[in-house]
Amino acid sequence: MWTPENAIKYPIPTLKTIDTHTTTQSLLFSPIQYQNLSLKQRTWVPAMVPWRSNLKGEVTQDVIAWYQRFAKGKPGAIVIEATGIREVESGPLLRISSDHYLDGLTQLVHAVKEASEGETKIFIQLIDFLQIKKRVEAQRFFERFIHIDQALIHRLSQYLQDDSIYLLPKAEIIQKLIFISEQNDAEEKLKEMLSPKQYRDLYWGYREEINDEHLAHIQQLPTQLPQLFGQAGIRAKKAGFDGIELHYAHAYTMASFLSATNQRKDGYGSSLENRIKLPLEIYHTLRSQLGDYPIGCRFLGEEIIAGGTQVEESSFFAQEFAKAGMDFLSVSRGGKFDDAMKPKVGQSAYPYTGQSGYECMPTVYSDQKGPFGRNLQTVATIKQKLKALHLDTPVIYAGGIHAFEQAEGILIDQKADIIASARQSLADPDWWLKIKTGKSDQIRQCQFTNYCEALDQHHKQVTCRLWDKIGLDQNDVRLSNDGKRRLEAP
Ligand SMILES: Cc1cc2nc3c(=O)[nH]c(=O)nc-3n(C[C@H](O)[C@H](O)[C@H](O)COP(=O)(O)O)c2cc1C
Ligand code: SF4
Repeated sequence: MWTPENAIKYPIPTLKTIDTHTTTQSLLFSPIQYQNLSLKQRTWVPAMVPWRSNLKGEVTQDVIAWYQRFAKGKPGAIVIEATGIREVESGPLLRISSDHYLDGLTQLVHAVKEASEGETKIFIQLIDFLQIKKRVEAQRFFERFIHIDQALIHRLSQYLQDDSIYLLPKAEIIQKLIFISEQNDAEEKLKEMLSPKQYRDLYWGYREEINDEHLAHIQQLPTQLPQLFGQAGIRAKKAGFDGIELHYAHAYTMASFLSATNQRKDGYGSSLENRIKLPLEIYHTLRSQLGDYPIGCRFLGEEIIAGGTQVEESSFFAQEFAKAGMDFLSVSRGGKFDDAMKPKVGQSAYPYTGQSGYECMPTVYSDQKGPFGRNLQTVATIKQKLKALHLDTPVIYAGGIHAFEQAEGILIDQKADIIASARQSLADPDWWLKIKTGKSDQIRQCQFTNYCEALDQHHKQVTCRLWDKIGLDQNDVRLSNDGKRRLEAP
């Protein structure tokens, strides 16, 4: 994973004990109500893919056990992981792409409600993503995937200073490219010779983009996605979820529409108004089908890539989402493919390995800013700009939340309305409850070193290094596929 230059190991602060009088009076543990959103407290477990489903994307007993464990900590809300809206396999990622999934999802909702004794609202994050392939050997890439066009032939002939290249059959041009790819400084040379997309596909693996309008299915995204999200939304409501979070963040289809890199020419790209058009159309489809039902989205306050969306633009998106009637806005940061590290041959690029990934899930190997509030200024700006327009849509903060004073301070300063904690909740799903009941000294503190994230990257069942070896010999402990780690927090 990317780390800042000259990174220092940032200390994890010792937790203060908070008395129950303070927590009872706190904003954090007070209810919030806005339009269709109503939570008993402002604590939120954001979406986290734990790879507990199967290749069909079904709700398994492991999925149920995972969310039941979070529910026992009784947060205000839990958002079920990014769940696919299409019949497309993506490892063991959960799906809501047909009625086949309804029974499992309904059981999941019941299990969470029961485990939290009705204290916790359960939302589901709906995701669409485009195709990505594993990186292949250069020889295979040139033999199977390269498109030889005049521009490539021209650059190759210039590089080799040989005009006869124009006359060569395709197979011989491919052999020349393979030969170059075997030289010591191959990457540098090929970077000059291939188009930026060909170069990227060679070293990072083929990846579809929303800008690939020459592909019919990419061109048709604006006509297909509202219906696909709409049908998934109807299923979510039928299964009993308390609301929907549209996944408009990170590296996936809808974040790409909002992105400053969106160059579509069909009225859905380039200008801010065009970029937000499809995200709003999807939202309006859901609203017209679901009526008074909590619908919000997760989007990026900043993309953290060269030429990426910054807070002025994301504030505009927030205002438009709020004016359209969304019930909550969850603001994340980074997590893009654009700056992902090169995967090894045989692996896929992963969007959380570059700087933008670091900013999404910062670790203690940090710069002077540390890992605990990197998203705060952005979220506070978005909140302030909403307030200036008298838009009260609750804003959810996430990023490095690890202590009561920190979370409460954000609420008191009106920089956000709800506080999300992913990794600290993973390390100790009871942590909010422990604070609330004056037992902060018993909290298992997240170390923010991203062992969990590394497992996620390899689509391995996500666990926390602080608890995955505890009590492995006990009969009722659910174990990972390799039998070496416990699957739920003790
Ligand atoms: C294992 C893991 C899986 C994640 N999966 C998702 C996801 O499905 N959808 C999403 O929006 N964010 C996902 N995230 C990002 C978190 O929701 C959160 O934004 C991020 O971890 C920063 O919050 P934190 O500092 O409290 O961990 C994931 C994070 C982790 C650690
Ligand atoms: S594995 Fe590390 S970063 Fe992840 S939740 Fe556990 S302590 Fe935190």
